[in-house]
Amino acid sequence: MSDNQNSEVAWKYHNATKHSYASVRNNQHFLDFNNQPIPFKIYPTLQPLPLPAEVRQTGVAALSAIAEIIPPQTASRPDLEAIAQLLYLSAGITRHRKYPGGEIYFRAAACTGALYEVELYLVCGDLANLEAGVYHFAAAEFGLRRLRAGDYRSVLIDATANEPSVAHAPLTIVCTATYWRNAWKYQDRTYRHFGWDNGTLLANLLAVGTAVGLPAKVVCGFVDDSVNRLLDVDPQREVAFSLVPLGYASAPPEQPPANLDPLGLETVPLSRHEIDYPLMREVHAASSLVSSKEVARWRGGTPLTNFPPPTGRVVEFQPLSDEAMPRDPIEQVILRRGSSRRFARSPITLAQLSTMLDRATRGVPADFLDPAGSQLNHLYLIIHAVEGVEPGAYVFHRGRGVLECLKPGEFRDQAGYLGLQQALPADAAADVFFMADLRTILQRYGNRGYRAVQLEAGIIGGRLYLSAYAQRLGATGLTFFDDDVTAFFSPHAEGKSAIFLVALGHSAKP
Ligand SMILES: Cc1cc2nc3c(=O)[nH]c(=O)nc-3n(C[C@H](O)[C@H](O)[C@H](O)COP(=O)(O)O)c2cc1C
Repeated sequence: MSDNQNSEVAWKYHNATKHSYASVRNNQHFLDFNNQPIPFKIYPTLQPLPLPAEVRQTGVAALSAIAEIIPPQTASRPDLEAIAQLLYLSAGITRHRKYPGGEIYFRAAACTGALYEVELYLVCGDLANLEAGVYHFAAAEFGLRRLRAGDYRSVLIDATANEPSVAHAPLTIVCTATYWRNAWKYQDRTYRHFGWDNGTLLANLLAVGTAVGLPAKVVCGFVDDSVNRLLDVDPQREVAFSLVPLGYASAPPEQPPANLDPLGLETVPLSRHEIDYPLMREVHAASSLVSSKEVARWRGGTPLTNFPPPTGRVVEFQPLSDEAMPRDPIEQVILRRGSSRRFARSPITLAQLSTMLDRATRGVPADFLDPAGSQLNHLYLIIHAVEGVEPGAYVFHRGRGVLECLKPGEFRDQAGYLGLQQALPADAAADVFFMADLRTILQRYGNRGYRAVQLEAGIIGGRLYLSAYAQRLGATGLTFFDDDVTAFFSPHAEGKSAIFLVALGHSAKP
């Protein structure tokens, strides 16, 4: 029996994991470096199949790739080179840095604490240079480990209640999230990070998919148990979080669902011991879908959330046109990206800000966003330094392309406080707060709406990163004091919950 409609569970999790000044101050948690989890999932008994090391250049402008989609029924199938591009530019190791205690392997997409709890698996039919199978992406070796041989796509088709994008996809990438890898630092709040960190990765994956000509969609509705069993993950530790079907073939796979015997494959332990945070497993279980019937009912039908037309003074957007925008290709921008560690307090232009917001919010192709272009998160901004715009608090009216001023003022100190008393949101040119009407969302989607709203925020946040770096600006994701954010933007944001935060501006040399 599914517990998804009992949204009390998501509320309980959300309220229990809010940050406040007092909760952060009183938290006794410390980082136990002697028990730090390793950053990769390793199957020691399986030899990885190397992926092509040469990444093809698409030349497609990042600002186009993040804003556009390939129409869903465009005949296309990825080859091994395209798969290598997709994996490298979404979850590959792009930089590494030595520090006294060890080494950090930075990956293509931003991730809380650089802990990289999201793993990628491939489920495919026969492709050019890749046999049908279920594979794990081994980021450390840049290779694929085959977990199952044969075409198992029908398992995903059943699990997603025949979601058309999955039914016709030559390849589906399954993203999982590993509790302990992130909870080592962030404890119970990690379940929110699953959505954020999976989301930034998906922003890259969707953009690269577009750049290589593959239709792609984010699928959040699936029978959890079937997908977890297909990958043979231990759901107490690691869970499937999202699916991304890629490409389109008119003939769906013929084979009936295959036997799903457990694989019993050894994996290297992450740490000497793991600490369990049951609240997260509770919200995961209560947001799990148990039958394809339930999945079919779950998807689509995005609720309209309360968003009154502007009554305050508005600032008209001035986004750069395709001709005028910087055309740095997506692969260059992804490799250039890295979270700003300090912002210069220098202004950005309104054209730059408008371009970032416009490009990042043109719609996420997802099974929970129907009609296309719907969005669950509303964006609120604190503007410190944007040429020609009075500093203050604003709300973004996406459909109208305007910012409505909620209150003018210099709010650098307040922004620094709201962003967990860090300098980054105080020094940025603008801070974008994602707020959502959780009541309506959970009513419509049940607890699983909580996964969806976090994931959408991560994707749009990831696109903001890319649209900043495409314009040679900087960005960073940030965490926040939940209720203080709502209070700051109220009365407009009354009743909404803080979901995510991205700071934008000129990076300063550290
Ligand atoms: C959702 C999210 C929240 C983050 N929160 C913070 C934060 O509160 N403070 C901070 O300094 N960095 C924050 N970061 C930046 C990460 O530390 C950074 O992404 C990670 O170290 C990887 O480095 P990179 O983004 O340069 O590749 C956040 C990143 C994300 C994606």
